[in-house]
Amino acid sequence: MSEHITHNAEQTEQIGADLGSRLKPGDFIALFGTMGTGKTTFINGVARGMGIVDAVSSPTFALIHEYAGNIPLYHFDMYRINSWDDLYSTGYFDYCESKGVIAVEWSENIEMALPPEFIKVELFAGQGFEERRILITEGNKFENTCC
Ligand SMILES: Nc1ncnc2c1ncn2[C@@H]1O[C@H](COP(=O)(O)OP(=O)(O)OP(=O)(O)O)[C@@H](O)[C@H]1O
Ligand SMILES: [Mg+2]
Repeated sequence: MSEHITHNAEQTEQIGADLGSRLKPGDFIALFGTMGTGKTTFINGVARGMGIVDAVSSPTFALIHEYAGNIPLYHFDMYRINSWDDLYSTGYFDYCESKGVIAVEWSENIEMALPPEFIKVELFAGQGFEERRILITEGNKFENTCC
């Protein structure tokens, strides 16, 4: 597990870029953290670290954004997901077998559908307006999962 304290959005993005630069096809990043803690900012860095040039924006309305690269990135926002039907309708399960990287904001809402192994990224508000605490845990294993 690694812990990072950041003091502005650029630092959070850089932590994401460091992770992105060492991802492999099929890696799954589950992000946890409440509104405005920096999940989209972090994924923007992941994309940069993966060599993707498109700017990442929040998929809150589209629910999924795809970014082409050497390894493609599939970016989900599960903020509005609160049932299995909702989750199926995003196409989430079709992506689980893919050789891309999947990054999921609001993983709290789909905990029952996370894959057996994933990289957990937890973001917390810190002191003041711009401080964030980021915990990264790799190799999480869940039993009885279905992605
Ligand atoms: N240390 C920091 N790390 C990340 N973002 C920061 C930091 N300090 C300030 N910010 C600001 O906080 C906001 C984070 O927004 P972002 O869209 O990344 O959050 P989010 O967790 O994806 O929110 P949502 O749940 O609405 O999708 C941005 O406006 C960013 O500039
Ligand atoms: Mg977001």
